[in-house]
Amino acid sequence: MPANDALSVAEALHRRRSVRAFSDRPIDRAVLARVFADAQRAPSGGNLQPWQVTVVTGERWERVLRGADPRAMRDVADTIRGKIGRPVAEEDDVQWADMGMWLQSVMLLLVEHGLASCPQECWAMYGATIRHELELGDDQILFTGLAIGHADAAAGAKLAIVVTPLATSGWPRLVDRVTCRTTPGAHIDAVVTEAGIAINPRRADLLERARQAGLPVMPLEAMRALCPPPRGPGRAGGDAPVVAVCEYRDGRVIDLVRQVPG
Ligand SMILES: Cc1cc2nc3c(=O)[nH]c(=O)nc-3n(C[C@H](O)[C@H](O)[C@H](O)COP(=O)(O)O)c2cc1C
Repeated sequence: MPANDALSVAEALHRRRSVRAFSDRPIDRAVLARVFADAQRAPSGGNLQPWQVTVVTGERWERVLRGADPRAMRDVADTIRGKIGRPVAEEDDVQWADMGMWLQSVMLLLVEHGLASCPQECWAMYGATIRHELELGDDQILFTGLAIGHADAAAGAKLAIVVTPLATSGWPRLVDRVTCRTTPGAHIDAVVTEAGIAINPRRADLLERARQAGLPVMPLEAMRALCPPPRGPGRAGGDAPVVAVCEYRDGRVIDLVRQVPG
């Protein structure tokens, strides 16, 4: 069963984006197998299906990384820019458009399964290393890499900011106990509201810079005191049926979402 069988094609298209920061959470191999099997339905000229995929993880991936020369990265942008508008298919006798059909199919299927990806043509710069490591034959061309994983943009970010009004529809946005915990507060660097900016005390560097810049910094407790009181209990009972599970980036279950009575 897909992870999200209510997702429309349009929603998957809008939801997909290139993600470049991932958690360490492993990917279920069965899910990947399913994605690649489904992606076989991508159209191709003459139905030649010229794609082939190799999944690289663990030790093998470490070896590929060690073999890749970071100096080559400097030229990546120019190389990619240089390719735009070039009639590659005519020159190279390869069904490049087919590869695009397949790649997008894979990426949309990954969205359906709650996985993020980033196509990375720059890996073609390391053709020799990858060819050797993946034992690619002379009849194969390295088209692109595709990073796949559980998105963790916050982990890759130098600054995680929550922007929120103090209250919405009369309900306070800063509370002592949340209804649904999706990220431990320790990982949020700053909370920005119309009242000012509360900075995590762990980020002394940020606090200092914000003060120096004359920004309206205030303690989180003071900001919390400016929120209106809750309009009612608003919490589902502790024994109400569980309707969703919140998993943290490492796969730990950090909260349960219970059915609201009535
Ligand atoms: C064939 C292909 C190759 C790409 N190669 C790279 C790459 O080498 N490095 C990278 O960071 N992004 C790469 N991208 C991602 C693009 O930068 C990205 O798709 C584009 O900026 C649009 O952003 P979005 O995917 O979030 O919508 C590639 C995308 C495609 C389709």
